[in-house]
Amino acid sequence: MRYVNPALLGAAFIAAISVSTAAAQTGSGEKATISATPAAVTASREDAAAVARGGTLFAANCAKCHGATAKGMTGKDNTDLVRSLYVLDDEKGILLTPPIRDGRPDKGMPKSTLTDAEILDVAAWLRVQSYGAGHRTTYTFLDVLTGDPKKGEAYFNGAGKCNTCHSVTGDLKGIGSRYSPQQLQGRWLAPGGGRGGRGAATGTPSRSQRTVTVTLPSGETVSGPLDRIDDFSVTLHDASGAFRSFTRNGDVPKVVVNDPMKAHSDLLRTYTDADMHNMTAYLVTLK
Ligand code: HEC
Ligand code: HEC
Repeated sequence: MRYVNPALLGAAFIAAISVSTAAAQTGSGEKATISATPAAVTASREDAAAVARGGTLFAANCAKCHGATAKGMTGKDNTDLVRSLYVLDDEKGILLTPPIRDGRPDKGMPKSTLTDAEILDVAAWLRVQSYGAGHRTTYTFLDVLTGDPKKGEAYFNGAGKCNTCHSVTGDLKGIGSRYSPQQLQGRWLAPGGGRGGRGAATGTPSRSQRTVTVTLPSGETVSGPLDRIDDFSVTLHDASGAFRSFTRNGDVPKVVVNDPMKAHSDLLRTYTDADMHNMTAYLVTLK
């Protein structure tokens, strides 16, 4: 049994009121994100920082199939994770890591591109969701659209520096009509579908793809979309689309990786929950 702090009861009562209000506003519930209040995280005894990171990763990588609240998608019983035994019985990711890491390719769940540490964060977030489903009063609902579009717009053109790469009348025009609010949130949190799905490896990189330039001792340079890199070798597709692989020995050859999505991953570390909700609320208005 898990320990529940009696001092949380007061907070639980207030949270219970906001649950009914928020649920009434969102109607279908499809758009509602269930999110752990600090009280719920404390009561579940999960690490709050891991839960917060896991929630962001879940929204970006899993919500489109399992729903924002991990309660599954309408008409698909098998995507409800809140009542999954993998979640209910999980401890330290021991049960959850294999299905998340390997996916269920035969059933429509792709292999994950998350690191082991990220999977543990997602597992912590999922455990809190299950815990919360059994202790509803420690939870509040947050609609993905609870943000303020005006503030989102200000962040887009200000602190977020989004306008240095994007234009709401150019590449992001109509993005609010192309995706559901949930998907839209995923798009800007992890464009290109996470770190793995950056487009096919061909000679021409997509806008989100990492590229690499290799400078050989002879001075010859070869560059193109990065296929893989580790301490010992680097593989890329050159301008003709051909596969080129080079052995690395310290700084020889010289290797420079350019990651166009670095701005996005850097942003992931800087924005607050409010920035995230405001931004999604703003992007949704770009019809
Ligand atoms: C493209 C859709 C899709 C995505 C993305 C996806 N899943 Fe799944 N997932 C599924 C489907 C479909 C199943 C059910 C497979 C089955 O019936 O055995 C499933 C099953 C699971 C299970 C096993 C549940 C059980 O009780 O058998 C877990 C755990 C899980 N997903 C977690 C995740 C997590 C965490 C993520 C994000 C990192 C994720 N999934 C991303 C579609 C998806
Ligand atoms: C340094 C450049 C840069 C900055 C700054 C930047 N982005 Fe991006 N963004 C990109 C690139 C590159 C892509 C990938 C484009 C693609 O796949 O077409 C992208 C993709 C996206 C997408 C997905 C577009 C689609 O059609 O699926 C959204 C949404 C987005 N960014 C929103 C934002 C928001 C919001 C901010 C500010 C908080 C931001 N970006 C800041 C470069 C940037």
